[in-house]
Amino acid sequence: MKKKFVCLLMAAACTASLAACGGSASETTAAAAADTTAAETKAADDTTAAEAEETTAAEEKEEASEGKQLIMATNAEFPPYEYHDSSMTGPDGSDIVGIDAEIAGAIAEKLGMELVIEDIAFDSIIPELQSGKADIGAAGMTVTEDRLVNVDFSDTYATAVQVIIVTEGSEIAGPDDLAEKTIGVQQGTTGDIYASDDFGDENVDRYPKGVDAVQALLQGKVDAVIIDNEPAKVFVSENEGLKLLDTAYAEEEYAIAVKKGNTELLDQINGALAELKESGTLDEIVAKYISAE
Ligand code: ARG
Repeated sequence: MKKKFVCLLMAAACTASLAACGGSASETTAAAAADTTAAETKAADDTTAAEAEETTAAEEKEEASEGKQLIMATNAEFPPYEYHDSSMTGPDGSDIVGIDAEIAGAIAEKLGMELVIEDIAFDSIIPELQSGKADIGAAGMTVTEDRLVNVDFSDTYATAVQVIIVTEGSEIAGPDDLAEKTIGVQQGTTGDIYASDDFGDENVDRYPKGVDAVQALLQGKVDAVIIDNEPAKVFVSENEGLKLLDTAYAEEEYAIAVKKGNTELLDQINGALAELKESGTLDEIVAKYISAE
């Protein structure tokens, strides 16, 4: 193992803005509105005055998005963050469920918007945001410097680790043993990027879905799979003959992506995320899909 593992801990950079959504601006607006109505004693009837006092800047913003669609691009092949489950109904009424789907559902609800989930290839998510076809990318997406060139990310909502899956009898015991081996990954993911950097393009086999890479491992077509820890646990538990190595490969942070420069939506998302963290809803969503060990 020659190269150092990439470590993308952006927690410090991403948490700073969480508490910044106080009420001072809206209080001022409400006070101003109250003053105005006091002065104009004749004109305004009671209803108008009450409305003016209650309508804060934040509410006005929310009303602007009220009833609009919030289009989420994802790749629903990534349990427990997003996957199809025909026995459940997801937040947009489809069978796409999981942590990201529910977080996005909760954010949309706070913004008074209707969530619509689009299930596409993982490496199409950023282009969809850039072209404006989707508003948010929520896909267990890792914040990386390269991606930050093309999209903006919200505050982070989860940490993850890239892990290595091998077959039970494998001699591979850690990243050092991966040199000259064939590594299966999901195309365009950080697992793909890190493995290609560290072990060479020619040693990496890319599959459209993580589960396809896992099937390739079971069939002996690849020697190991590098993928995020939570889906890895699901895939190992669903397939006999596989094991997870306990040596972590790289640590990372998940966040929601938006089109570069869409600060209005980004601020709304960060505000909603902060509320979901504060109220414990985020933890509840995670606990619904990941049982504590
Ligand atoms: N965290 C990894 C990345 O950002 C993998 C995400 C894959 N997500 C998915 N929904 N398939 O590259």
